[in-house]
Amino acid sequence: MQEIQDSTHSPPVIYEDTVVRQLAFMAVVWGVVGMLVGVVIAAQLTWPQLNLDIPWLSYGRLRPLHTNAVIFAFGGCALMATSFHVVQRTCQARLFAPGLASFVFWGWQAIIVAAAISLPMGYTRGKEYAELEWPITIAIAVVWVAYAIVFFGTIARRKVRHIYVANWFYGAFIIAVALLHIVNGASMPAGWMKSYSVYSGVQDAMVQWWYGHNAVGFFLTAGFLGMMYYYIPKQAGRPVYSYRLSIVHFWALIFTYMWAGPHHLHYTALPDWTQSLGMVFSLILLAPSWGGMINGVMTLSGAWHKLRTDPVLRFLIVALSFYGMATFEGPMMSIKTVNSLSHYTDWGIAHVHAGALGWVGFITMGSLYYLIPRLYGRTSMYSMKAVELHFWVSTAGVVLYIAAMWIAGVMQGLMWRSVNPDGTLAYTFVESVKATFPFYLVRLTGGLLYLGGMLVMAWNVWMTVMTGVSARVTVPGLVPARA
Ligand code: HEM
Ligand code: HEM
Repeated sequence: MQEIQDSTHSPPVIYEDTVVRQLAFMAVVWGVVGMLVGVVIAAQLTWPQLNLDIPWLSYGRLRPLHTNAVIFAFGGCALMATSFHVVQRTCQARLFAPGLASFVFWGWQAIIVAAAISLPMGYTRGKEYAELEWPITIAIAVVWVAYAIVFFGTIARRKVRHIYVANWFYGAFIIAVALLHIVNGASMPAGWMKSYSVYSGVQDAMVQWWYGHNAVGFFLTAGFLGMMYYYIPKQAGRPVYSYRLSIVHFWALIFTYMWAGPHHLHYTALPDWTQSLGMVFSLILLAPSWGGMINGVMTLSGAWHKLRTDPVLRFLIVALSFYGMATFEGPMMSIKTVNSLSHYTDWGIAHVHAGALGWVGFITMGSLYYLIPRLYGRTSMYSMKAVELHFWVSTAGVVLYIAAMWIAGVMQGLMWRSVNPDGTLAYTFVESVKATFPFYLVRLTGGLLYLGGMLVMAWNVWMTVMTGVSARVTVPGLVPARA
């Protein structure tokens, strides 16, 4: 077991927090936008006429807008903000190249705006989670390399020998995402906003899902585990349960994730042995995932009572329960026979949002509720009652969302495979769509609750910023250490 090192153990360091504040604030803004688009597409699936016959508002264009906004804008800004905060505190060093960090902030916002304009206009590479056309793809690579330089530059100038485990996870996330993005982004331009992948056929599909699955593994998992390893011990006031386990967790997780991509391509033209290999690695992945989850949850040893009174800690710990749920469900869904039922159905959407709303959303909200007040010279948010309200409203939202999609998904799978004694299909496709309608209504309600919670957070963050003290800091852009 090892304590997190921070400024209370050594002379204060001057930290560069302007960029952390900007990114944390924009994470909340993009969270509201991305979830609002999620609610709109959930409503369109319920009542398709809501696309109003306007191409810009069609489901096929808004869906990638939703996924890009929540993953790369909301998740991306939160990961950048927290990594810049954590790396400075745990390395006892000021951020490397603050000018470059500022470029990362503005470059990332420009990319988000370019995505928000080009996706509704219909420009797309047609690859899930990698839709943005080649000029934007190149811009992402440039900003990402700048991000890597700032992060690893700070590690290089650290004042403590040890590199705390949260930085290993953030570091792996930064390196892996660069690799995935550059390999899967390779394409041949055929005009300013049109390009073709350099791969073709089944190789293209394999590269895409090597990317897609590791986007889950490194963007939606490893980076957020970095948050877990810093903010849970901080908020709980306890050291990480087992530092040794965290090292095993790290190496096992990053080694295993890389091989599991083919589970997205079961029963396709991909060679059968490749699919089975993907399935086996997905099953193995349960072990490091649960090892990490247990390490996070057990960090509360001796501090369980705090859950009763501390809604921020509750966000962080409930996030881990959803992480455990999604990482149990994923390996099960990777079993080929199970996948033959779940694939193409809303079961997949339930799994995604157990991870996305429950894990990614909650760990981010908990971490931002720890971070934002401290960036503005406060010990807690403007209103802790509002944090409490947010917690309960969004928990109800996630439960409604995923329960509805689980039931709908299994129902669809069973309807599609059920046959009459003479071998004909028992149900037409449209009958399964009709049967899904009530579940879409429940999902929409869940989404509205989750969005409502996010709006409460936005108000609370605004009030915290307005009543904070960052403006009174003497040196512009520099805030004395407050870990
Ligand atoms: C208010 C909250 C949200 C609502 C109402 C919502 C709604 C939706 C809907 C309706 C879809 C399309 C489902 C389909 O194609 O059948 C979707 C897809 C998706 N959403 Fe969300 N979403 C929300 C929040 C989030 C968040 C916070 C994340 C990530 C951090 C996320 C990640 C995704 C992903 C990755 C997909 C694509 C899933 C796939 O292709 O299998 N969503 N969402
Ligand atoms: C041990 C960990 C996990 C494994 C083995 C796993 C496995 C799977 C499997 C088998 C699918 C269905 C593929 C298909 O039928 O097309 C899937 C889809 C998905 N999972 Fe997971 N999962 C894991 C954890 C997670 C977590 C923690 C998240 C989110 C934070 C997540 C996000 C997704 C997304 C976004 C998709 C939809 C991809 C798409 O088709 O667009 N997974 N996962």
